Amino acid sequence: MLFYARFFHQAAIKISSKSKFMQTATVTETNTNVDFLPLSGTDYIEFYVGNAKQAAHFYKTAFGFQSLAYAGPETGVMDKVSYVIRQNKLTFMLTTPLKTNNAIADHIYKHGDGVKVLALMVDDATDAWHQTTSRGGKSYMEPTTKEDENGKVILSGIHTYGDTVHVFIERKDYKGVFMPGFRKWESSYNPASTGLLYVDHCVGNVGWNQMNPWVKFYEDVMGFRNILSFDDKDISTEYSALMSKVMSNGNGFVKFPINEPAEGKKKSQVEEFLDFYNGEGVQHVALATNNIIETVTDLQNRGIDFLKVPNSYYETVLDRVGKIDEDLAPLSELGILIDKDEEGYLLQIFSKPLEDRPTLFFEIIQRKGAKSFGKGNFKALFEALEREQGMRGNL
Ligand code: FE2
Repeated sequence: MLFYARFFHQAAIKISSKSKFMQTATVTETNTNVDFLPLSGTDYIEFYVGNAKQAAHFYKTAFGFQSLAYAGPETGVMDKVSYVIRQNKLTFMLTTPLKTNNAIADHIYKHGDGVKVLALMVDDATDAWHQTTSRGGKSYMEPTTKEDENGKVILSGIHTYGDTVHVFIERKDYKGVFMPGFRKWESSYNPASTGLLYVDHCVGNVGWNQMNPWVKFYEDVMGFRNILSFDDKDISTEYSALMSKVMSNGNGFVKFPINEPAEGKKKSQVEEFLDFYNGEGVQHVALATNNIIETVTDLQNRGIDFLKVPNSYYETVLDRVGKIDEDLAPLSELGILIDKDEEGYLLQIFSKPLEDRPTLFFEIIQRKGAKSFGKGNFKALFEALEREQGMRGNL
């Protein structure tokens, strides 16, 4: 039915494209394709942590971030401290409450350290809030203007899965280092960059049967599209099964895969996350690099542990992915995985959890044309994950 309607419509355009009626019809069709929530990318990721000062030191030391900005009692913020660190287009904010009995302290008590805010760059934060809340998004922050001598930043926000939120940031009228309320954080300790560039994608783990409702949320409320789906046949090993759908905004700058657990012989890795995070939340953030061999060598030298697949993976991987530019030896030594799609290949590796709870981890990814997410590696990867899960007694 839909096909015929569309066919007829296109045929009609061809036949009478000059008529006034068809001009109107064309405009109407264009309007339905307009991106009502244009996003320029990830502005920052805010983590609620137990000790922001030490966490900032860890991310600087281990991942090569630089000090950028600070807010706390010295800048007039009396109830919390926030350290902002940056590496290329990657900005993290680490926030700790100074007292108990508040939303941040409750978040940390419930979830442990974790991602609270996925902040998105917009041109018009007021419009972003109206567009999303009028489509059913639950408001987290009404449009709010923060001003200082460097200009103004407008923020607004909506809730997403679990206690996670999206904050829309409009900073076109701001010239300062980060945003009003923060001062420049100058440090004499400036470890070199590890070559991390920007957020490639950010994955949420949601509860049983919750993937499709959240897919619909991203479609209806934020105008995203489902660009890839994996079911439990794609993503199941002997034990760990999950389902995943990748949501992308209109220009592809923001990609949010959503995972839910699936029935397997034993506990799904997503269930382990839900147990220890005490609910839905961000499972991993994928950070892009242009030279994964150098980046991962550097990260390993700085003490970051990665999941390892058996060496046998490298005996057959080139049969699967074909010719690649890199030598296989350093990839296999570092444990970097390779996958391909119709458009090219990608190199990726996954860290072990970054905290004591088996919740948040990072992926390091270098894309060489491929736009996918490493489906060919799922089996090898999940077997590696299960070994870790087994060692924690959670299988
Ligand atoms: Fe990923």
